Amino acid sequence: MRPFNFSAGPAALPEEVLQTAAAEMLDWHGSGMSVMEMSHRGREFASIFEAAEHSLRTLLAVPSNFRILFMQGGGLAENAIVPMNLSRGGLVDFVVTGSWSKKSLKEAGRYCDASAAGSNEGNRHTDVPAPATWALRSGLSYVHVCTNETIDGVEMQTLPDLAALGCDAPLVIDCSSHILSRSIDWSRVGLAFAGAQKNIGPAGLTLVFVREDLLGHALSICPSAFDYRVVAENNSMFNTPPTYAIYIAGLVFDWVQRQGGVAEMERRAITKAELLYGYLDNNGGFYANRVAKPARSRMNVPFFLSDESLNDAFLAGAREAGLLQLKGHKSVGGMRASIYNAMPLQGVQALVNHMQDFARRHG
Ligand SMILES: Cc1ncc(COP(=O)(O)O)c(C=O)c1O
Repeated sequence: MRPFNFSAGPAALPEEVLQTAAAEMLDWHGSGMSVMEMSHRGREFASIFEAAEHSLRTLLAVPSNFRILFMQGGGLAENAIVPMNLSRGGLVDFVVTGSWSKKSLKEAGRYCDASAAGSNEGNRHTDVPAPATWALRSGLSYVHVCTNETIDGVEMQTLPDLAALGCDAPLVIDCSSHILSRSIDWSRVGLAFAGAQKNIGPAGLTLVFVREDLLGHALSICPSAFDYRVVAENNSMFNTPPTYAIYIAGLVFDWVQRQGGVAEMERRAITKAELLYGYLDNNGGFYANRVAKPARSRMNVPFFLSDESLNDAFLAGAREAGLLQLKGHKSVGGMRASIYNAMPLQGVQALVNHMQDFARRHG
C-alpha cells in the first residue's frame, strides 16, 4: 500500500488514475504515442480535450452561458489575469480571509483601484467576516473572494449573494483548493478559477469558468494569451495548452464520476472533516485547531501541538507510520492535513490513530 499523502498541493491523486496513466504512458489507446507526444491540434488529443471538458461541465453543472478555459499560470497568474480582463481599470473590492485573498488584493492593485471591503486579519485569519459587514463600494467592476484558504484552513460554506447585499457587480471566486468537493451555485458567480494541483490533477493547468458577458473587456496591456475572449474564441488552443495535465485531469473527472460525482465527494469530505475536527476538539488539549467552527475548511486542516518542541518528533513518527507531508505552511507553523478528494477515509483514520498514539506517549 502507498503511504497517505497530506500535501496541500501538488497533492495526492487517486491511485487508479496513476495506474491508468502508467498503463497508457507509451501508447495511448493504440495511437502509438504517449499523450505527451501528441499535437494539441490532432484528432487524438482533440478527443481527450472534448471528453475532459464535457465531464467537467457535467460534474459541476456548469451552465451553457459559461465558458470553461484551460489555461496556464496557476492561481497567482490569475491574480493579474482577472483584473486585466474584468476590472476595466476601475474599482474592485476584495474580502480578505487569509493568505491567498490577501495576495490577490495586492496583485490586483497593479491594474485597478483594489480595496478590502472586509478582512479577518484582526482575527489572524480564523473566521469569515459576515457578508452583512462587508463595506462594498458602489460602481464596482467585480468582487473577489477566496472560497477556501488553503494555508489558513478557512472555507466559505456558502457563496455570498451579492445581489442581496445591494451589489450588482459579478463575484469572482478563487476555488483552487476545494473545487469538485462541493457544488457551485453559478447564479451567484461571474468567474471562478482554480489551479489544478489539489483536487484536479498535476500543476500547470488552471481552469477558468467565465460568464460569457464578461468576455471582451481586457485592458490593452493584457497579453493575448491571457485575454479570456481570445482564449475562448480559440477553444483554449490559442497557445499550446498543458496537454498532459489536461489528460490527467480528464482521468480524475472520470474517477469522480465513477465514485458518484460531486455530491458523493462532498458527503465523503464531510465525513473525513468530522472525524479529524472531532478528534482535534476532544483530545485533552494536546492538539488544537484555531479556526471558528463555521469557517473550518473541509479540505485543509491546520492544527498545532500545545508543546511545539514536539513538532519534529510528531512529523518523524508520522512518516514512519506512512503519513506524508503534514508540516504546516511556514507562515502559520504547526501541522496541516490536506484531505482532498483523493484522500480516503482510512487515511484520515490513520492520521487520527497516529495523533492518539503520539499524545499517549508524550502527553
Ligand atoms: C487558494 C489558492 N489560490 C492561489 C494559489 C496559487 O496557485 P499557484 O501556485 O498555482 O499560482 C494557491 C496555491 O496553493 C491556492 O491554494
